[in-house]
Amino acid sequence: MLKKFILGKRQKTTPTLRDKIEKINKLPVPEHVAIIMDGNGRWAKKRALPRIAGHHEGMKVVRNTTMLANDLGIKTLTLYAFSTENWKRPKNEVEYIMKLPEEFLGTFLPELIKNNVQVKMMGYKDQLPVHTLRAIEKAMEETKYNTGLILNFALNYGSRAEILDAVKQVLNDNKNGILKETELDEKVFSSYLMTANYTDPDLLIRTSGEIRLSNFMLWQLAYSELWFTDVLWPDFSEEHLLEAIEAFQNRQRRFGGI
Ligand code: FPP
Repeated sequence: MLKKFILGKRQKTTPTLRDKIEKINKLPVPEHVAIIMDGNGRWAKKRALPRIAGHHEGMKVVRNTTMLANDLGIKTLTLYAFSTENWKRPKNEVEYIMKLPEEFLGTFLPELIKNNVQVKMMGYKDQLPVHTLRAIEKAMEETKYNTGLILNFALNYGSRAEILDAVKQVLNDNKNGILKETELDEKVFSSYLMTANYTDPDLLIRTSGEIRLSNFMLWQLAYSELWFTDVLWPDFSEEHLLEAIEAFQNRQRRFGGI
């Protein structure tokens, strides 16, 4: 897989990038990487462009990040594309972001399919525009048998709402005799979350210099390694992803032990 990446798929792979990939490939890579893609607005502002230009540029970075994550053998890449709080943004910006999945998948779905990537989504589907949901569901359908990287878009996702909904379902199942109180443990509770089918993220990346979680995967990130960078999302390159993974590989994960 990696060999293919190094030898053929990207003409622009520089020797330095190739060296870094080879080095990283010698150690285990994180199974699940989650990213808070932040800084699109500031990227655009710095260039006197409208904020949506930053989101458009950010979309291209989604493609490059996905391809490299897939080549590195990362199993799941969860990207925070729109939060349940992002509806507070100006209408034109929200409408633009809601068109991005169509543009992204319209442009890159054939490449994702060719590279065995499986597209998934987590979040509250009901409030999404029909055109957005349709594009994502089409991509999910067309990639459902793919066995490479799972590209999981967190779209209209909010962690507190997710946890609260899980609690309500647990109470309901308990009331209906499906789940006994003594059976409820962390593993069972996790199965009520939108991430039921995934392992918890091993590595969380947040761009743009903000050091917070912004209601993202609060339960799932309990033992994740966190990596923050000042780089704005549209400037996030393959080198930056490799830097984050290298930092992860140098961390000692103790999960509360010694
Ligand atoms: C945060 O930056 C970014 C978002 C809320 C949108 C993220 C969306 C993309 C990167 C494109 C997604 C692509 C697909 C395919 C769904 P910000 O606007 O808060 O930046 P700022 O903090 O600098 O204002």
